[in-house]
Amino acid sequence: MTHTGFRDTVAEPMPSLREGPMPRAPKQLGEVVLRVRGLKKNFGDAVVLDGIDFEMRAGEVVGVIGPGGVGKSVFVKICCGLMEPDEGHVEVLGTDLLASDQKTKQRLRERVGLVFQNYALFDFMTVGENVAFPMVQRGLAKADEIQVKVQERLAEVDLPNVRHLMPNELSGGMKKRVGLARANINDPELIFFDDPTAGLDPVTSSKIFNLIRRTQAHRNSTCLVISHDIDRMRPACDRYILLLNGLVHFRGTEADAMHSQDPIVKEFFRKGDGSKKPSDER
Ligand SMILES: Nc1ncnc2c1ncn2[C@@H]1O[C@H](COP(=O)(O)OP(=O)(O)OP(=O)(O)O)[C@@H](O)[C@H]1O
Ligand SMILES: [Mg+2]
Repeated sequence: MTHTGFRDTVAEPMPSLREGPMPRAPKQLGEVVLRVRGLKKNFGDAVVLDGIDFEMRAGEVVGVIGPGGVGKSVFVKICCGLMEPDEGHVEVLGTDLLASDQKTKQRLRERVGLVFQNYALFDFMTVGENVAFPMVQRGLAKADEIQVKVQERLAEVDLPNVRHLMPNELSGGMKKRVGLARANINDPELIFFDDPTAGLDPVTSSKIFNLIRRTQAHRNSTCLVISHDIDRMRPACDRYILLLNGLVHFRGTEADAMHSQDPIVKEFFRKGDGSKKPSDER
């Protein structure tokens, strides 16, 4: 594994999606913000995670790839405290997640953002209320402060005029961007994106990954991005892990993957389609 994915803080104003290629900031060694050891999870007789070891450092964007049903979402849910593992250790932002009481977990969740695989917007709330929700739940800010922050986050995702709309009035790509705005509302240090471009066209998908990189660079946050779209996620990710058969089958940069002689790794990283199961073509 190579450690090449660390960056300095980028203290620039938030650029618009319409501006040119995303910046690649210089890298620096960051602190460990997520440490997973020996993570195991079964559902009945089905072994989903069979001993995952993984670490992420401040400022990295790590891509998680692997066949459908391999356990990518389960992995992220465990790291966010939404699901309990059967065995293993999860340390989030220096805190042992599994040994934490509810209050500590709640405080940790406020420092962690999550973009769900489906849109997961509340359809009975306006866009503005959806984006505000994690901040309202936290209960620390006044209503006018929340409104300012909501407007700021929506502008960052190039949706300055949609706060009064209902989610069903938005396109799929707009909903994804609202999800990004909501995940960023509490300025999280660590953000998990579970398939943030599922179902979107290639152009919109590229914009979403571009946006993920820009928001990450702007705040120097740390991001874990699950996707099947290896071509579109490439510009956003510093390195990858490939999950297979309950384990991390490969970890490294795209260059490492390109030099790999492992046919499964080659197949996942080849241009064109990162979503096929290796077994589909044998
Ligand atoms: N709550 C649950 N109860 C029982 N089985 C579950 C549960 N959640 C996930 N699973 C099973 O765990 C396995 C991994 O699911 P997961 O959603 O993590 O896959 P994934 O890698 O995210 O797939 P995809 O790429 O399609 O999103 C699947 O077989 C799924 O059926
Ligand atoms: Mg999933």
